[in-house]
Amino acid sequence: MIEASVIVDAASNILDAAAKRDLDGVALLVTAGPTHEELDPVRYLGNRSSGKMGFALARRAAARGARVTLIAGPVSLPTPPGVTRVDVTSAREMHEAVTARDTEARAVIMAAAVADYRPSVRAAEKMKKGEEQSLAITLELSPDILADLAARRRARGGSTPLLVGFAAETGGLDEKAQAKLGRKGCDLLVGNDVSEPGSAFGGDTNRITLYAPGAPPDPLPLLTKDEAADRVLDRVAALLGR
Ligand code: CTP
Repeated sequence: MIEASVIVDAASNILDAAAKRDLDGVALLVTAGPTHEELDPVRYLGNRSSGKMGFALARRAAARGARVTLIAGPVSLPTPPGVTRVDVTSAREMHEAVTARDTEARAVIMAAAVADYRPSVRAAEKMKKGEEQSLAITLELSPDILADLAARRRARGGSTPLLVGFAAETGGLDEKAQAKLGRKGCDLLVGNDVSEPGSAFGGDTNRITLYAPGAPPDPLPLLTKDEAADRVLDRVAALLGR
């Protein structure tokens, strides 16, 4: 039998179909989860993203009628019904998967926690323990996918796709998120403070604040990730003139 959660998702999508279909036919690209940057065949650098927020966005967007492609980092979550999933491991693979599809999307939602740095060298065989008491690993910068999407859009001279970024911070959220919004060149930034109760990595709730250029921050109450996803999609739908 398939997972009960998959049956519940499919049933709630059918029920939702009778309700809001404000993203009917809209092509959306959503990224989710962490990326893993391999050191050798058995070890990697990663982060604690569960992928739940990105999957909630994909699930709710599909329920509202969008044609969703979900680029997923390494997570163990079932694919939401009606969503096309592409699995990737590293930031480099995610960059390739996203830039192969961004021109077909009306909006790209970058919910993934992309690793900023990767090991400069990946050992072909498992690294063995030596006599040394410490070990230094050299890292190099990974591509900044969101900033690249904004640059590609500028180069095409258009306003499509709409770009939505995320910022998971620990303290000073408003200041850091506003700066990130400008630096990344996106149209909407979803900020949260992961040190706050209810917004920790891996949980089912999130307290998000929405930031848009020229607008005051819009702090939302503590919501389930599905509810938070719907609030983000409300803004996306409005920005797309739906
Ligand atoms: N992001 C990306 N590519 C990267 C790093 C981040 O596309 N290499 C995206 C994330 O998916 C997110 C947004 O950029 O939507 C902000 O990610 P974040 O890690 O908070 O931003 P950084 O620029 O890496 O800043 P810092 O880690 O220093 O806060």
